[in-house]
Amino acid sequence: MYQNDIILRAAKGEKVERVPIWLMRQAGRILPEYKATRARAKNFIEFVKNPELAAEVTIQPVDILGVDAAIIFSDILVIPEAMGLPYQMIEAKGPNFEKTIKSQKDIDDLHIADAGDLDYVIQAIKLAKKDLNNRVPLIGFGGAPWTLMAYMVEGSGSKTFSQAKKFLYQQPELAHQLLEKITQSTINYLKGQIAAGADMIQLFDSWAGVLGHEQYLEFSLKYISKICDAIEPLVPVTVFAKDAHFALADMAKLNCNTIGLDWTINPQDARIIIGHEKTLQGNADPCMLYADEKAIEATARKMVNAFGKQRYIANLGHGLYPDLDKNKVKFFIDCVKGL
Ligand code: CP3
Repeated sequence: MYQNDIILRAAKGEKVERVPIWLMRQAGRILPEYKATRARAKNFIEFVKNPELAAEVTIQPVDILGVDAAIIFSDILVIPEAMGLPYQMIEAKGPNFEKTIKSQKDIDDLHIADAGDLDYVIQAIKLAKKDLNNRVPLIGFGGAPWTLMAYMVEGSGSKTFSQAKKFLYQQPELAHQLLEKITQSTINYLKGQIAAGADMIQLFDSWAGVLGHEQYLEFSLKYISKICDAIEPLVPVTVFAKDAHFALADMAKLNCNTIGLDWTINPQDARIIIGHEKTLQGNADPCMLYADEKAIEATARKMVNAFGKQRYIANLGHGLYPDLDKNKVKFFIDCVKGL
């Protein structure tokens, strides 16, 4: 069906002739073409809500960088917004929520979102699928409930997310209610993405690393597990939990196909802990792309040798930084594809 379905085969553990590659945040500010499209929208949120523009930047990395999958251009924060908590994206600073979650009433006031509340994403997926014309699969995504809760309570990014963690310690019962509502919203939303054509789903748990092991199991993995149970029967699921090296053995038990790794994790150790039933994805340090081409090539080779060519999807250990050189990014992709 696809001209190139290598990433789907790798996710399912089928044999591949070379290692597939895509990069987190591949649609973004490293591409002048992205900046040109973004300039046509009033601000980031208007951009995300415009299906034509969102579809356009979704395809750009496929055309320009030659990646083996597109990822729908959107943001994880569309779910809090659809639930009734609007945000602003402040230039060079990040997200900001005017109202945050503090009480039982705040949680009761939240709406359980369904795909209809996020119709702009659904339309963007349909347009992107049409433009892709089966060249490569399309990845849909959502934030993990804990990471979304962290923003909804904290109100912005944070190094420690101490306000969100305070909520876990002071009001654990409410935290579970909130996480459950986010989980139900996310399942509805991801099912809508799949119905619109998303071929795989990735969950981003960007703030896994601020929790200790026990809290991670109770407040994050429990809900990720519910989402995997609902989605994995439909399409392959990837769970990327940044800095969650302490939970790899637990993640190995999830109903998911692929586990995304950040750059702090040694590939051989990850394989031993996770076993052979899952595909691994990752994990070069994005800052490695500031090095020269010789070093980039050596890293690509080392990484692929360490993971092995089967049951593996090459990627970075987190998203691309905006000041990375697009030519070096493309060089890295070409190195992996040439191995
Ligand atoms: O990966 C892709 O190419 C698809 C698009 C995508 C975006 N955000 C677009 C975006 C994805 C998958 C995300 C997920 C996301 N959003 C996460 C999880 C992944 C991660 O990075 O840990 C998180 C935590 C967010 C929340 C968010 N969105 C923050 C903290 C910021 C500001 C910081 C920044 O990078 O600017 C955003 C903004 C954002 N989301 C941009 C893009 C391309 C930059 C906005 C711009 O163009 O100015």
